[in-house]
Amino acid sequence: MILDDIESTADVVVPSDPIARVIGQDNAIEKIHVAIRQRRNLLLVGPPGVGKSMLAQALAKHLTPPQQQISVLHNPKAPNRPVVEVMRKDEISSRSQKEGLATGRVVSPMEVPSFVAERLGFRCGSCGSLSGVEFLTCPRCGSNKYSRMVKSRQENPVNKMLTDVFEVGPVKPEKEVQTSRIGYGGSEEVVVYQRTSEGKVRVLDQKALEEIRQLNERDKRHVIVPLERKNFVHMSGATETELLGDVRHDPYGSHPEIGTPAYLRVVAGAIHEAHEGVLFIDELPHLEHLQNFILTAMQEKKFPITGRNPQSAGASVKVKDVPCDFLFVGACNIVDVSKILPPLRSRIIGNGYEILLETTMPDTPENRDRILQFVAQEIATDGRIPHASPEVVKAIIEEAKVRAQGVDNAKNSLTLRLRDLGGVVRMAGDLAVLEDSEYIEYRHVERSLKESKSIEHQLQERYGSVWSGLEKDKSIVLDHDSADRSYG
Ligand SMILES: Nc1ncnc2c1ncn2[C@@H]1O[C@H](COP(=O)(O)OP(=O)(O)O)[C@@H](O)[C@H]1O
Ligand SMILES: [Mg+2]
Repeated sequence: MILDDIESTADVVVPSDPIARVIGQDNAIEKIHVAIRQRRNLLLVGPPGVGKSMLAQALAKHLTPPQQQISVLHNPKAPNRPVVEVMRKDEISSRSQKEGLATGRVVSPMEVPSFVAERLGFRCGSCGSLSGVEFLTCPRCGSNKYSRMVKSRQENPVNKMLTDVFEVGPVKPEKEVQTSRIGYGGSEEVVVYQRTSEGKVRVLDQKALEEIRQLNERDKRHVIVPLERKNFVHMSGATETELLGDVRHDPYGSHPEIGTPAYLRVVAGAIHEAHEGVLFIDELPHLEHLQNFILTAMQEKKFPITGRNPQSAGASVKVKDVPCDFLFVGACNIVDVSKILPPLRSRIIGNGYEILLETTMPDTPENRDRILQFVAQEIATDGRIPHASPEVVKAIIEEAKVRAQGVDNAKNSLTLRLRDLGGVVRMAGDLAVLEDSEYIEYRHVERSLKESKSIEHQLQERYGSVWSGLEKDKSIVLDHDSADRSYG
């Protein structure tokens, strides 16, 4: 056993793979691996604190990161019917490049005013020769190309203060310089100079800037599910709008000048945010009738977004076919299984697995080592408590054995109701911190075990059984009765 060879839990290597951190649920882990490869759905059934959420999260960590971004576009013909747009990662990058290239005139740094060339990082402030931005020191005269810029910054008192305080050093070349000039008609005209990645300068005059404005105007896009997102969406006790999305109310009713256009008020639901990832619904039966929507979403892999408050201006807005291709993981307690909609369950079984989680594991040397791993993990995850001595781990293992017998009536077993056991470790850790102890010691865990008992356990100790404890509640009612009688 590893436990015999360590000085403290600091010597235990905690696995970085979140699946390897789940202890004692080997059957579930096997199905998680299948779900990752084959994109299957899962229903995890078991009492609280045996690792359902952990498993769902671990599944998400093993999926490829999202590749698509979902946006809603303005529909000029029918503003209340915004159009959905799905863009792949590669399309997003090539498009933003194209947009940049679409307009303006590209010239060499020699052709722009010298102060512009200097601020963009091409021209040496001292000798006036041109070189690439990558040269901080002028290759011709050897002076710092940006020293003049530092000086001019220092002439401004606020900048000087910042420079002095933060030692910003040479100012970085700018990416863009905005200037103005007097145009042919005598009116002032804005000109923007942008440094391109090829070491040239793009000149955007008034006309080019106007083209860009029109391009953006034509292409009004509201990103509702960004490319950079978590691929794990966790819901418990969701409302309809959280689950399915919404169109926010506009007090000005989309008035062309003062209102907010419909496409900007569209909000994605959890089913859309989970697109390409995992939708994890804890306490699934609590969703009640909303389970029907999940069923439809799973079938169609797309679901419209519409305003869900009939009183609101959003109710007249609808976006069709918003993608929601997620892996579904539901979780619930054993007693609640019967409250899950049968068609939803058959949908899961038809393309996935229902898994009953374990509540105990056999008391073997290997499994004792896994409890050791668990203690080390809990300490590492918490981050605020010290490591534990081997005696502490032994006490936790003994407690795991007592609980397997007491709670689940399992002989020679170790409990897997590990959330509660984690609480014991944390409380012992807090006691160690209060004492400035280097490690969690036996005395800490001893006290923590005494104090972390559940109410049921305390009732049993004080009144002999949970039942006689319950009588305490009832006797209050009886007292009332006799009082009433004596007055009546
Ligand atoms: N099988 C397990 N292996 C390791 N740690 C566990 C396990 N089950 C529970 N835990 C610990 O308890 C915490 C809560 O577990 P969780 O996955 O939320 O349980 P559930 O979702 O079944 O209620 C976890 O963050 C972890 O610290
Ligand atoms: Mg949970």
